[in-house]
Amino acid sequence: MIKRIAVLTTGGDAPGMNAAIRAVVRCAVSKKVEVMGVFRGWWGLINDEMKPFDHRSVSGIINQGGTILKTGRCPEFKTREGQERAFANIKKNNIDGLIVIGGNGSFEAAHLFYERYKVPCVGIPASIDNDVNGIDYTIGVDTAINTALAAIDNIRDTATSMERIFVVEVMGRDCGFIALAVALAGGCEEVIIPERKFDLGAICHDIVEANLRGKMSWILVVAEGAGQAVDISKKITEMTSLETRPVILGHVQRGGRPTAVSRDLGLRLGQAAVDSLLSGVADKAVGFHGGKVVEVDFTTAIQKKELKIDTWYNLIKTLT
Ligand code: F6P
Repeated sequence: MIKRIAVLTTGGDAPGMNAAIRAVVRCAVSKKVEVMGVFRGWWGLINDEMKPFDHRSVSGIINQGGTILKTGRCPEFKTREGQERAFANIKKNNIDGLIVIGGNGSFEAAHLFYERYKVPCVGIPASIDNDVNGIDYTIGVDTAINTALAAIDNIRDTATSMERIFVVEVMGRDCGFIALAVALAGGCEEVIIPERKFDLGAICHDIVEANLRGKMSWILVVAEGAGQAVDISKKITEMTSLETRPVILGHVQRGGRPTAVSRDLGLRLGQAAVDSLLSGVADKAVGFHGGKVVEVDFTTAIQKKELKIDTWYNLIKTLT
């Protein structure tokens, strides 16, 4: 019987995390379940930094980016000692279950903790990378894509006016989802992602050929895990003698007001996570897949997500 749960956000923040926190707290409270808000992710569990949350604790946060609970990456939670301290604090605070809002790194840690201590834990996928396997979208990716897209639209104005090539670096260490999505929606000419080999010589050849036909500006999107905008733009200038500028969008993509899609996902998955945890589910993440809420084992959620890269890439190239 679950009487008290704890909610925490871990890993990189994502817009819409606050909506998820709001839904978790209010849905739990409506079922007479107490909620502890844990601050700074796993670090807060290890160091007993938490406090009771009620309906009003989550007022006025639905439209805010970031996370009111704060977050971070916590290598200490991977150690036996760190986990033991976290477990001791869970017992001390009479916590019967956890809801962890984060990405695949968070779920990996949550799974190891569950294996050792059997504290029921349900995950809510939130990451701008959209790299959680078994579900369609993570909370925050829609906002990040729209933020990057707004920047690319601005870059397009100057690229066209000054007839230049731009290399725009977006986030995504291991996953090219943001890059592919903005390249398609932004009408960009080329995209470089970690999951797909690229040949800069061939790209430069295309640029020069197009240039001779009168196409004077290009936007090439690169995911940070596949290369750096500064290096790539230098090489393009060397190989083509055409003026090229690098732009690094960086952490701008992580902040900002969550879009309706990111909020909606946060709110629905917050509710789903509470329902799952109270009905006895553990060691799983909730998410939408094909329009339905699904529960995915943490061990599945952390596997490499397969994207339909060739289909996506070919469409980008067909449309340029
Ligand atoms: O949260 C995901 C992410 O934004 C990745 O896209 C990026 O590679 C990474 O986090 C950056 O992490 P940090 O903010 O810790 O430098």
